[in-house]
Amino acid sequence: VQRADVDTQTQLAADRIAPYARRTPVLRATADGRPVVFKLEHLQVTGVFKVRGALNALLAADPRPPRVITASGGNHGLAVASAASWLGIPATVFVPGTVPEIKARRAAAAGAEVVRVGQRYADAEQAARELAGAEGAYYLHAYDDPAVVAGQSTAGLEIAQDAPECDVVAVPVGGGGLLAGVSAAVAPRQVIAVEPAACASLHAAVAAGQPVDTEVDPSSAAGSALGATRIGQIAFAAWNAFGAGLAKVSDKEILAARDRLWEEFRLAVEPAGATAFAAWLSGQVPGDLPCLLLTGANATWSPS
Ligand SMILES: Cc1ncc(COP(=O)(O)O)c(C=O)c1O
Repeated sequence: VQRADVDTQTQLAADRIAPYARRTPVLRATADGRPVVFKLEHLQVTGVFKVRGALNALLAADPRPPRVITASGGNHGLAVASAASWLGIPATVFVPGTVPEIKARRAAAAGAEVVRVGQRYADAEQAARELAGAEGAYYLHAYDDPAVVAGQSTAGLEIAQDAPECDVVAVPVGGGGLLAGVSAAVAPRQVIAVEPAACASLHAAVAAGQPVDTEVDPSSAAGSALGATRIGQIAFAAWNAFGAGLAKVSDKEILAARDRLWEEFRLAVEPAGATAFAAWLSGQVPGDLPCLLLTGANATWSPS
């Protein structure tokens, strides 16, 4: 991985997506008497960082695809549906039956055709790829695509520019698109890759020495968003290049972190979006001033 190339791709992506995506704020705060910085990416348009990658991929494709097909456990589908509608591209999103209703509903509201297939992300992905292959349509992968990773890296660029004093950045990991992009953009800061215990595809890949299929517990609170059965090749290569630290959090810790974000900071974040804070609360994020990426807000949830 060449740093100059990474910087160029990140800056190109930032310029491409700027008319559509928000530059989300950082919040300097204190928790348990220690300073932390939250990157409020759950305030991104569509309620999730994924729109950065979806926008960059669609804007970088030349020629502009006449139609886009994707598969997603929810947030990527919503992001693709929204980005495609802004660019006037018809979109079809395959989702597993387990997808939370709010994500499917928001993707449909953005104008996409939403098709439910099977119970796992892998089932939806297979059906989406088959249709894209049969119709010669553009298939937009949720994380293992260089243009998607470059789009996600813009969140890291904003951290490096807006909170340069942070020495560590903690990132939730599903398929690892965000991890790959942010690792490159915030280097040489240390990155902590945080996975729910119920779906830890990066941990499994590190143990096996290569990306491998893993079990995803469908009952997990964060699993519907983070439940990629296999870490991306790009993410695994980025992990090898940048050497992120690994952290694992339980569902209970994730939900407790989500509740504390609301209780103490009035931040309404979905479970998957609270995993970096959960890792910090459990002492797995080192550093004098860590930046914790809060990534999404698409859950049906009423604050108490
Ligand atoms: C809210 C949220 N945070 C983090 C992630 C992790 O992103 P990635 O798949 O790029 O690892 C996802 C999706 O997987 C997500 O929906």
